[in-house]
Amino acid sequence: MSISIPRGTQDILPGEVEKWQLIEAKARELCEKYQYQEIRTPIFESTELFSRGVGDSTDIVQKEMYTFEDRGKRSITLRPEGTAAVVRSFVEKKMFGYANQPVKLYYMGPMFRYERPQAGRFRQFVQFGVEALGSNDPAIDAEVISLAMNLYKEMGLQKLKLIINSLGDKESRVAHRDALVNHFKPRIGEFCHDCQNRLEKNPLRILDCKQDRDHELMKSAPSILEFLNDFSKAYFEKLQQYLTQLDIPFEVDANLVRGLDYYNHTAFEIMSNAEGFGAITTLCGGGRYNGLAEEIGGPETPGIGFALSIERFIAALNAEGIELDTDQGIDCYLAALGEEAKDYTVGLLQQLRMAGISAERDYLDRKFKAQFKAADRLKAKYVAVLGEDELKNKKINLKNMATGDQVEIELDSFVQYFQGLKGE
Ligand code: HAM
Repeated sequence: MSISIPRGTQDILPGEVEKWQLIEAKARELCEKYQYQEIRTPIFESTELFSRGVGDSTDIVQKEMYTFEDRGKRSITLRPEGTAAVVRSFVEKKMFGYANQPVKLYYMGPMFRYERPQAGRFRQFVQFGVEALGSNDPAIDAEVISLAMNLYKEMGLQKLKLIINSLGDKESRVAHRDALVNHFKPRIGEFCHDCQNRLEKNPLRILDCKQDRDHELMKSAPSILEFLNDFSKAYFEKLQQYLTQLDIPFEVDANLVRGLDYYNHTAFEIMSNAEGFGAITTLCGGGRYNGLAEEIGGPETPGIGFALSIERFIAALNAEGIELDTDQGIDCYLAALGEEAKDYTVGLLQQLRMAGISAERDYLDRKFKAQFKAADRLKAKYVAVLGEDELKNKKINLKNMATGDQVEIELDSFVQYFQGLKGE
């Protein structure tokens, strides 16, 4: 019996992987401009990090984690997201003591959630995310949002919608929490078992319930925005002012609660509103998590960040019909005829490559015509022909595949000549 790929995962093959590389390169380039530095944390962490960080009553922790006991009887979890691990590292490596503050980090790598696979929802997916730790300035919230928006825009996406909300500070959230409990309590029996548990533990999570989302009490639930104290209100207004200043259109949606527990003040999501994108439209999510470092055992540290998955990024590009220029072709194909010429190309190919030229030759002992066909398939810009005569005369024939022009070049200076061509 053949073995197949696990549900909710995918192989990213040549032809498709180039899209990933372009997005990843653009993300790195933007991080360089915005001054975020890369951090790589382990693929697995202690389970407690996520139950404390992401939150015990979230779907992620309750239903979606890949958790196992290792041989040393430790409970280990494949990371379902990146923020908790980055904050763990920030605390453990004492980055709060760095001279340069805030500490601005980015990461790119696989995350794991045991979700029901469907279009745009995988069990292993790759997130690109940023985290800025150590600043309470709403200008950095705006910076983080603008980085995500610019990444999408620079890759050509246009049909984007940014929604923002404020979850307020602790005082505002406590007031809102009480109002939510009073709102749902009399009819909590009509809600699912999970929501009944959430009522006292974390009533905000009820608003995020997939099962009860159509219940009439959901629409009439008290909005967090009514409970923001003056500080939280001023913070949220400042963020909106900065977004306007940056020309980033947004909508305020008081129902945006996000699926993780660590948020306060700013919460945001970027959605695709391209036609036919499918049911899951959220491309990117993030927000502020001022208490998280303390939760993990560190000093009080404000933080804000976002994460987006490359899978949904590519789905959005496809939905908008955007073709990335991924197949640029090779610089030079060496077509050789005859044993001696073929032997010669082994060394010549190496020299070309070492000189920064992408080059290929035949490895299947193909006839001349078939070698030209292979060069075509590789979209070679030039084909260099080396037959027995050429070799005898120490020349090589170079054909420009776009114009059809041919020139004869001294074999000894061929690599140099080609470098000159590339430099033009
Ligand atoms: P999240 O909303 O859980 O937030 O995930 C962020 C993004 O990851 C989503 O908007 C989506 O693009 C992608 N994503 C999530 N689950 C899947 C899946 N099963 N398949 C494909 N893509 C998926 C976080 O993870 C937070 N750590 C974000 C953050 C960073 N907040 C502050 N800093």
